[in-house]
Amino acid sequence: MVRKTEILRINSSNFSESISKAAEILKNRGTVAFPTETVYGLGANALDSISVHKIFSAKGRPPDNPLIVHIASKEQVRDISEDIPDNTFLLMDAFWPGPLTLILKRKNFVPDVTTGGLNTVAIRMPDNATAIELIKKAGVPIAAPSANISGKPSPTTAEHVISDLYGKIDAIVDGGAVDIGVESTVVDMTSNKPILLRPGGIGVEDLKKYIPDIETGYNSEKLTDKKVKSPGMKYIHYSPSSKVVLVEGFYRVSDKINQVISDYHKNGLYVGLLVTNETADQITDKNVNIFLLGNRDNIKKVANNLFKGLRTLDNLNLDVIIVDGSIKHEGIGSAVINRLQKAANEIIVLEEGEYIET
Ligand code: TXA
Ligand code: MG
Repeated sequence: MVRKTEILRINSSNFSESISKAAEILKNRGTVAFPTETVYGLGANALDSISVHKIFSAKGRPPDNPLIVHIASKEQVRDISEDIPDNTFLLMDAFWPGPLTLILKRKNFVPDVTTGGLNTVAIRMPDNATAIELIKKAGVPIAAPSANISGKPSPTTAEHVISDLYGKIDAIVDGGAVDIGVESTVVDMTSNKPILLRPGGIGVEDLKKYIPDIETGYNSEKLTDKKVKSPGMKYIHYSPSSKVVLVEGFYRVSDKINQVISDYHKNGLYVGLLVTNETADQITDKNVNIFLLGNRDNIKKVANNLFKGLRTLDNLNLDVIIVDGSIKHEGIGSAVINRLQKAANEIIVLEEGEYIET
């Protein structure tokens, strides 16, 4: 169903009025996209099935993929979850408000549609004044996945949300560009040892200060055994329409990218590059569209540019986007590499000493 999407721009003079309007929409079972510190979320009343269904249909999201429930105060955790292990409070005190999502046992009244039918619920308290005020005024916890069409890169500006969801949702609160640019870290607290399910804004090194024996529940390895990997649809996520080729590693990454560009150009194809500044300096063929991620060492900047870069290059309708994966697997860099691996149709991992034709 196509409907009118109200754009509510936030500035110092209309903050309260805009948030009140958005909160009214949520109370009336509507859907509202809003900024968080990580990415924009698409919100609805987490405790009302009819509201939450609207999120799934606007995004085209598979019904078995559960949503994160956003709260405005730590105390609200007890409203929607139970049997909370003690170390959960350590993490909440250390990282909330902030980019950490905790999976806990749900209370029974949290609807199945919110939790994807699981008996657990994902909860986080965002570090963004607009988000917090909106949740408070709505008076209920707000379910919010990233506000993109399912499978596309997450939105880091209101313009990204408009381009994916305009006409499909009731309102967009425009609070400008987000701070972090990749989603929250997700940790499952319901098994014996906490499990890291998704790397994100909080690095595993920081979590280990509180949970030294945290386990890793996603593939964090370099995919060395699958040098050229075509992961298939299940693995694709955060992905542009153009083919995405990720070149991972540090050994002669720019030489390899030069070689890959040359191969595609021989076949008359249009090429885009999503690369660090250091790699860009080494690119010899200038007949490519380049989006600069920033300096390799400024990983926060790289993370912040990631989804914007994928979207910008995708809008150029290129045949292939070659991505520079010369990024350390640590801190928020782990999240960057994880998202790039998921976006990629093909992953090339460079081994030291490998022969590269130049
Ligand atoms: O930073 C973020 O987390 C953003 C902002 C809007 O808060 N939200 C976000 O939501 O990234 P989404 O839906 O795009 O990703 C939520 C992730 C999914 O991978 C989902 O499968 C997982 O959290 N998840 C949610 N509930 C879960 C549960 N009960 N058990 C395991 N995984 C869960
Ligand atoms: Mg998402």
